[in-house]
Amino acid sequence: MSLALDGGTPADGLVITGDLVQDETAEGYAYLARVLEDTGIPCFCVTGNHDRRDLMEEWLGSAAMEPIADNRIDGWNLIFLDSTLPGEDGWRLTRRQVHHMDALLERDLGLCLVFLHQHPLPIGSAWMDAMGVTNGAQLLAVCDRHPHLKAVICGHIHQEFSVRRRHYHILGTPSTCFQFLPESQDFALDARTPGYRELLLYADEQLDTRVVRLAAYPEPLSLDATGY
Ligand SMILES: [Fe+2]
Repeated sequence: MSLALDGGTPADGLVITGDLVQDETAEGYAYLARVLEDTGIPCFCVTGNHDRRDLMEEWLGSAAMEPIADNRIDGWNLIFLDSTLPGEDGWRLTRRQVHHMDALLERDLGLCLVFLHQHPLPIGSAWMDAMGVTNGAQLLAVCDRHPHLKAVICGHIHQEFSVRRRHYHILGTPSTCFQFLPESQDFALDARTPGYRELLLYADEQLDTRVVRLAAYPEPLSLDATGY
């Protein structure tokens, strides 16, 4: 958090793309609430598969995003989706969420970013791809129809990821704790350090983004772990 907020241009907002508290306890969310409040900037917390929505709402208040929510920063429209609703075949977006997002994009032609926890398309890592959004193709089909949408950004995969699709980017963000090894077919940790993704939004439709990482791990990391 200090790396993201110290120095440089002050941030207009902070998006946390899910899995907010590792132990899913009230104490954990209370701690996070204090940390976010101390930033003094708007915070937008998306639900992850390791989150408890009831505790998020209790402790984070308006920073806890609804299953679909939108907000605006500097003329850019931000849409937040909860991808953790369980379906028969895994985690999926509901038909209502997808239609609502389509309607928001129809109604507001301002530049737009979409945030959700799980990745909406395969990232080339079998064990992670079994835990993506199972109907991500429906989400991307809506995104394909709206040229003012500039990026879909996820958490969950604990690694940097970037692909271009039509008029927009699909971006994965490093975790603020341990990292998963890209393109690994089974669980494997990566020696890369924790980090975050910076998003610079310009009025002329330009989106600049980069990943920033800690110089070193704050504590020793065992790379031979077989799970987490
Ligand atoms: Fe996750």
